[in-house]
Amino acid sequence: MAVKHWIGLGVGVVAVLSAGALGYHDHQTAATTSQLQEAQAGAVLFQQMCETCHGPGGNGAGNAPVLNDGSVTTTYPTTTALATFIQTHMPASDPGILTSQQATELALYIRQLNHLVPQQP
Ligand code: HEC
Repeated sequence: MAVKHWIGLGVGVVAVLSAGALGYHDHQTAATTSQLQEAQAGAVLFQQMCETCHGPGGNGAGNAPVLNDGSVTTTYPTTTALATFIQTHMPASDPGILTSQQATELALYIRQLNHLVPQQP
């Protein structure tokens, strides 16, 4: 799984470089790059707002479910489903404070913890 994503990322980078040389823009590859940036923003938000309960990296050190063992991404199998849950229910201490953009960033980060989007090099 992880290896497949890495290959995909490599191909994507080559596609961007050749698309640039040819003078057109590859939207699908751009989306992948932006997902990585969003996941990175999600990691910062997670440290600030989620770690106290879910533990660093979602390892469940706190008083809430583990978020990195594949179960949460089975319950909420798409980024949209996970982001919707997060936006309406989390943080449990203050639900509803996240924008949909922040919820998406957090969902992509949690998917990354579960090896579902490419890791940063
Ligand atoms: C005050 C403690 C607390 C904070 C802060 C908190 N959570 Fe939670 N979270 C919980 C508890 C307790 C549950 C389990 C009950 C539930 O699902 O509502 C949970 C459940 C979840 C689930 C579903 C897990 C599953 O397997 O069904 C996700 C996803 C999640 N939290 C994400 C987040 C994110 C992202 C943040 C930060 C914005 C966050 N949580 C902040 C306590 C917290």
